[in-house]
Amino acid sequence: MRTVKFYSGEVTPLEMHKVRVVQKLNLLPIEERKESIFGAGFNTFLLQNKDVYLDMLTDSGTNAMSDNQVAAMSVADDSYAGSASYTKLEKAISDVFNQKFFLPVHQGRAAEHIIAKSFCKPGTVVPMNYHFTTTKAHIEMIGSVVEEIYTDEALKTKSSFPFKGNMDINKLNKVIEKWGAENVAYIRFEAGTNLIGGQPFSMANLREVSAIAKTHGILLLMDTSLINENLYFIKVREEGYQNKPIKDILHEMMSYTDFSYFSGRKVSCTRGGGICTNNHDIYMKMRDWVPLYEGFLTYGGMSVREIEAMAVGLNETLDFNVISHSPTFIKYLVDSLDSKGIPVITPSGGLGCHLDAGKFLSHIPQTQYPAGALAAAMYICSGIRGMERGTISSVRDENGNDILSDIELLRLAFPRRVFTLSQVKYAEDRIQWLYDNRHLVGGLEWVEEPPVLRFFVGKLKPIGDWVDNLVAKFREDFGDSL
Ligand code: F0G
Repeated sequence: MRTVKFYSGEVTPLEMHKVRVVQKLNLLPIEERKESIFGAGFNTFLLQNKDVYLDMLTDSGTNAMSDNQVAAMSVADDSYAGSASYTKLEKAISDVFNQKFFLPVHQGRAAEHIIAKSFCKPGTVVPMNYHFTTTKAHIEMIGSVVEEIYTDEALKTKSSFPFKGNMDINKLNKVIEKWGAENVAYIRFEAGTNLIGGQPFSMANLREVSAIAKTHGILLLMDTSLINENLYFIKVREEGYQNKPIKDILHEMMSYTDFSYFSGRKVSCTRGGGICTNNHDIYMKMRDWVPLYEGFLTYGGMSVREIEAMAVGLNETLDFNVISHSPTFIKYLVDSLDSKGIPVITPSGGLGCHLDAGKFLSHIPQTQYPAGALAAAMYICSGIRGMERGTISSVRDENGNDILSDIELLRLAFPRRVFTLSQVKYAEDRIQWLYDNRHLVGGLEWVEEPPVLRFFVGKLKPIGDWVDNLVAKFREDFGDSL
């Protein structure tokens, strides 16, 4: 992705690829979208994809592959052990990440399982810039504790701080002092920090954390699932990196870490995942769990076709046009919404555009789920499916009261190389309309609330008749337009 200046003076994102395989999309009339969201219990996870126009639920496993990736899949070497496809993947890990040892797994959370099993135990702590849901669950399952040591900027929805994913060095030192270095299982740094809005950390911060870890003899782990966009932001935002090749930036990042893991569903636009290290002892500590939980060491639960596509996809992360795609589109949308006073997380990150539902729907109390209501209203007015990241994604306390989320967000993810600029402009237009009509949107209440991970399959309903009012206003403003 590049940006170019038009004759009119407008600066616009310009795709550096063309579309060669397409998938048909449906944009249902608003009356049918209303039916669909009622059918889904006002939970966007439960919508049928055929009823969705733009699927912005996640960027996981939904990215577009390149022609070279698809071509590579057709030459895959099917064998249980010693597949030639696996040899190509090992070479890609060595070239791209500069790492000697690799353990393949079926997806990111499987790597988290093996790492937590090998390095955590009750009485230990894992300090991190911010947790991801599955990461935290695996660490806590073992009886270890997560300490989040983000900076004060991280949870400010409106900010111009370029590296909101940084760790707070003072907090890190305090955690080490409190627990004792010997009880720190490892320090985890998540690139492109997901749950605070796809926000990067800086090389300077990584370097500092690494030096502290070394002084205390603590291991440093990096989650590289969203490394593409973190690399992009270091290159464009951090002083001294503008003219550095992407490969050199990535190798410098890896030089500060002892081991790393990734979800191939994100970084390489495939499925699968893996764990990388240059340290033989670290490799040996985890190696024997892979055949037990994932599959033999030369496939780890992945198909050989995915392995071929992963090798090519990892090499493509070194291409500026590839890693700049979603941040450029996201910036376009975020800056435009921000300039109109619509509450979004700033500065724009990777992964997606995050609407601040708490501010967007400030008249809805958190106990009536503003982020869930915004996700439903967004689908009703546009056919766009986003993901609630607020109190519905939280849990209840021992008295049965909702533990209110720090921030109420609607995440509109940007799968890599999937959408066109006119589709992004469509999203922008419908968000603007929804913002102007926000007073029409009301809250939600539970119909069916599962005790565990309720956001996945729980069902809700609107409080009052706000949906009919929203549909009527849409018709009034847009006539018979979709
Ligand atoms: N780490 C990060 C930073 C992630 O965003 C994810 C998944 C994982 C690990 C786990 O990887 O899904 O392959 O098992 N994030 C997805 C999302 C689910 O929608 O943000 P996985």
